Amino acid sequence: MKIQTARGTQVFYGQPAYIYEHILTTFQNLSQNFGFAPMATPIFESSAVFSRGLGESSDIVSKEMYSFNDRNGDSFTLRPEGTAGIARAYAADGLSQHSPFKVYYHGPMFRYERPQKGRYRQFHQLGVENIGITSYFSDLEVIDLGYQFLGDLGLAKNCVLSINSIGDEESRRQFKEKFVSYLKNYESELSEDSQKRLKINPLRIFDSKSEGDQKILEGAPRLTDSLNESSREFRDHIFNGLEKLGIPYQSASGLVRGLDYYSHEVFEFITKDLGAQGTVLAGGRYDHLVEQLGGPKASGVGFAAGIERLSLLLEDQFKEAHLDFMVIPVHQDLEMDAFALTEDLRKSGFKLFSHFSGNLSKRMKKANSQNLKAAILLGPDEFKQGKCQLKVFATGEQSEVSLKDLKVTLSKLIK
Ligand code: HAM
Repeated sequence: MKIQTARGTQVFYGQPAYIYEHILTTFQNLSQNFGFAPMATPIFESSAVFSRGLGESSDIVSKEMYSFNDRNGDSFTLRPEGTAGIARAYAADGLSQHSPFKVYYHGPMFRYERPQKGRYRQFHQLGVENIGITSYFSDLEVIDLGYQFLGDLGLAKNCVLSINSIGDEESRRQFKEKFVSYLKNYESELSEDSQKRLKINPLRIFDSKSEGDQKILEGAPRLTDSLNESSREFRDHIFNGLEKLGIPYQSASGLVRGLDYYSHEVFEFITKDLGAQGTVLAGGRYDHLVEQLGGPKASGVGFAAGIERLSLLLEDQFKEAHLDFMVIPVHQDLEMDAFALTEDLRKSGFKLFSHFSGNLSKRMKKANSQNLKAAILLGPDEFKQGKCQLKVFATGEQSEVSLKDLKVTLSKLIK
């Protein structure tokens, strides 16, 4: 019996796997240029890392976590995101002595969600975190990195940056009081979900998709009006900074994001090209996460992007990083010589495809299917005289080349 992949998981092979690698390399290069260092945290952590870090009332903790008890009876969870694990390591693994603590990461994340295009149960994120710095410049740096990353992938034009300030704790407390007392007047008209959120996490009502809820929200008090002076100043610095950097943005007063750890700026780069799952890269500042996980008082800022969502956007325009050449023995006695020549050319930096079975015509077909630049044909008589045939696919021309001139000739072909 054939066994299928689990619902909401997928296998990467061929074009999707090349796109995945391309996204990662682009991200790693850029993050290092910005002074972020690589970091990896465990794929499973004590469940408390996420329940405390992300908030019991968040959708992730209340209904999406893959949690299990191990043989010892301890509760662990497959990480649904990367920030909490990094904050835990900063809090408990002696990393807080590093300043600045700027890291980038990537890997699989797990959420029990209803799978659809762009939404999976095992998905992959790449992200950055900068912990221990309160300056708004670190927010600007992180947003700029996200923007440049999308630019390097050729996707900046497809995405809009939505940004909001949800202020500090004091501002949010004040806002919540006014907001809840306004919504109480409409409690019975709110959707079932929003009625629940009104009790446990009212700000999340902004995320409601219900038209009725959105109508009620139109007349609600605005978070911006409750920001205290320091939160307003922080927000203004960010908006001015974005303008100075030439990063286009939309101020989105209803953007609150689904994780409880955020303060001040939250942002999302959103595309219209992916239907309902249009948020490709998202993040914000978090003031209390490290403390909640037992660490020192240290705020941080970061983002994460969904690699599958980026891949979907790149699908139509991506060209694989091609190999250039293939050595084909015309007679099987030259199989080892062809193999040795392949390895010698690879050592000199050439990119060669290899395939070890089939006759000349089958191998030529294979070479053609790989979009190679040329095939190097080794025939017994010519080879003895130190020569080979070079078949250039673009022109169809075939010519004799001396083996000692081969590397120079190949170099010219890839220029
Ligand atoms: P998040 O918004 O939950 O934030 O996820 C970030 C990104 O991961 C989303 O914008 C989306 O592209 C991708 N993503 C999330 N869930 C799925 C899914 N089920 N399938 C496919 N892609 C998905 C965070 O995770 C925060 N840790 C971001 C952050 C970092 N904030 C501060 N630092």
